[in-house]
Amino acid sequence: MQIGIIGAGRIGAFLAKSFTQLGHSVRISNSRGPETLKQVESETGATALPVAEVVKNAQLIILTIPTKGVFQLDRQLFESALENVVIVDTCNYNPSRDGPIEEIQNGKLNHTEWISHYFNRPMIKAFNNITDFSLKSKGGIQNAPNRVAIPVSGDSLKSKQLVSNIIEDLGFDAVDIGSLADSWKQQMGGPMYCNDLNREELEIAVQIANRSVMEEQYLEIFKQLYEFSNEYVEKNNLDISGSNAVLYVMEMGDAQVHNEFIRIFRKSFTNLQK
Ligand SMILES: NC(=O)c1ccc[n+]([C@@H]2O[C@H](COP(=O)([O-])OP(=O)(O)OC[C@H]3O[C@@H](n4cnc5c(N)ncnc54)[C@H](OP(=O)(O)O)[C@@H]3O)[C@@H](O)[C@H]2O)c1
Repeated sequence: MQIGIIGAGRIGAFLAKSFTQLGHSVRISNSRGPETLKQVESETGATALPVAEVVKNAQLIILTIPTKGVFQLDRQLFESALENVVIVDTCNYNPSRDGPIEEIQNGKLNHTEWISHYFNRPMIKAFNNITDFSLKSKGGIQNAPNRVAIPVSGDSLKSKQLVSNIIEDLGFDAVDIGSLADSWKQQMGGPMYCNDLNREELEIAVQIANRSVMEEQYLEIFKQLYEFSNEYVEKNNLDISGSNAVLYVMEMGDAQVHNEFIRIFRKSFTNLQK
């Protein structure tokens, strides 16, 4: 399959490498231009091109950039794409990083609905709720107990099937959680956000998701991640503090530390079961 990836960071570069290993032809782009992606090309086997070129002739496009980067993209970008291309949004909306986006903040649209409206194209939401650490390290063999499951939402069954197949090829269970209007369930603060649920748990999470408590849950979880990370950097005499400690600890790629993060994120699931 011809796959185009917009965004060459943690998620984009990992998916590019995995897809080329699976035998797909992958093109990848970032905001600064292909000449800045030489290392990504050599590490992933993907070809770096400008964003507009990555979109052309792709059967699957993955949009994986900070949400604020969407404003730098041409709203007509996908007009040159194949008519039946499947576009996957992996992005999360983080107001402190992405700035205010009124339609999302006032609850009129969930994140991927907003992206879909912005580009006027159907979208599938997937890969937004798994950390790059888990994506890189937790793919398992089919039917393995506790295989991590990844939710997929969107309005086309055919497109969701294609995305589910690729998730399974990467070593994860794929669970169709509903339409694009339902995709809020896999957003931050929801019961399936960054907590590595298995298929059975994920199917429960779909049923118990409660939009009205998501913001409160996320704030509580962030508070706990903040406390844990700041204690960690202090104990290790690192000169980092505040939210930077959370980013540092999250990105350090230590399995034990990551497990603690997952344990904290799991509260958004277990709290709803009480
Ligand atoms: N990391 C995770 O664990 C994780 C997990 C699930 C979902 N997500 C979400 O997935 C998205 C990507 O995350 P990430 O961690 O991979 O991000 P990242 O490591 O910060 O990388 C972002 C990439 O997006 C590119 N980019 C930014 N604006 C762009 C634009 N207008 N056009 C083309 N490329 C652009 C950047 O290119 P330049 O450097 O050239 O600007 C960079 O290659 C985010 O929305 C994030 O919230 C992340």
